[in-house]
Amino acid sequence: MIRIVILGTGNVAKQLFDAFKVKNAIEIVQVYGRNPRTLDKFKAGIDVTSDISKIKKADIYIIAISDDAICDVSKKLNLQKGLVAHTSGSIPMTSLSKKIRRGVFYPLQTFSTNRKVYFKEIPICIEAESKEDYDLLHELASTISAQVIQIDSDQRKSLHLAAVFANNFTNHMYQQAQEICEQNRINFDILLPLIKETAAKVQDLSPLFAQTGPAKRNDLGTIQKHKALLEHENHKKIYSLLSKSIQNTYGKKL
Ligand SMILES: NC(=O)c1ccc[n+]([C@@H]2O[C@H](COP(=O)([O-])OP(=O)(O)OC[C@H]3O[C@@H](n4cnc5c(N)ncnc54)[C@H](OP(=O)(O)O)[C@@H]3O)[C@@H](O)[C@H]2O)c1
Repeated sequence: MIRIVILGTGNVAKQLFDAFKVKNAIEIVQVYGRNPRTLDKFKAGIDVTSDISKIKKADIYIIAISDDAICDVSKKLNLQKGLVAHTSGSIPMTSLSKKIRRGVFYPLQTFSTNRKVYFKEIPICIEAESKEDYDLLHELASTISAQVIQIDSDQRKSLHLAAVFANNFTNHMYQQAQEICEQNRINFDILLPLIKETAAKVQDLSPLFAQTGPAKRNDLGTIQKHKALLEHENHKKIYSLLSKSIQNTYGKKL
């Protein structure tokens, strides 16, 4: 049995809580949140606290709180033993207090509180300072995921950057597409099968081969017409920048 304390009450904390609470091999000893109101959703049968000096003994402390606060919170932990792992893609393991056993437990997925995710398919990137702690994190991660991967802090920084391109920027493109649809009284839902296929295609094809569209084909006439159609300066800039990047990738100049 691995005994854990979850620190944080946001998207990642709640998703990890839901995933671990149904695992026989894991006991969630406590959830910490600085704001008592945010602890309500964790209360059923589990001890909760807003007082960081009252954190209970556990094998692993998972810090699932905002990146900027990870270092400070780790310094406030007054632990005799136990391993402390944060869940951030961009914060080095060494940002955690030197006084504790340190690790990283980074689930590579986008989480929102009320959206169910299937942890079995989510890669969990782990890092620790000793073999024993690595093995412990591996054991914990393996109870919820089939993909537990050793990634060091430098690799994780780049992986997080890649994830920003693959997820955050792509989602921002969906939002731009939605704005263009709405300006023209078209329901955004009409694009959903296209969005689904775009994501499905790269499961089998490299993104380099999956690319289509006027910039890839060097259809300059279509590109000019699209630019003329765009009403907002921001949309024009994004369209030009991405078209140029695609053109450069496929060896043709705009
Ligand atoms: N969301 C994702 O898709 C995702 C994916 C992978 C990894 N991560 C990482 O997981 C961590 C948590 O992300 P999240 O999306 O769960 O964030 P979130 O939903 O915004 O929740 C942040 C949590 O941190 C707490 N917090 C902030 N400052 C604090 C402080 N000074 N002291 C104590 N608690 C503090 C917040 O408490 P209050 O409610 O009181 O503000 C809240 O419980 C981050 O390191 C993030 O990089 C996120």
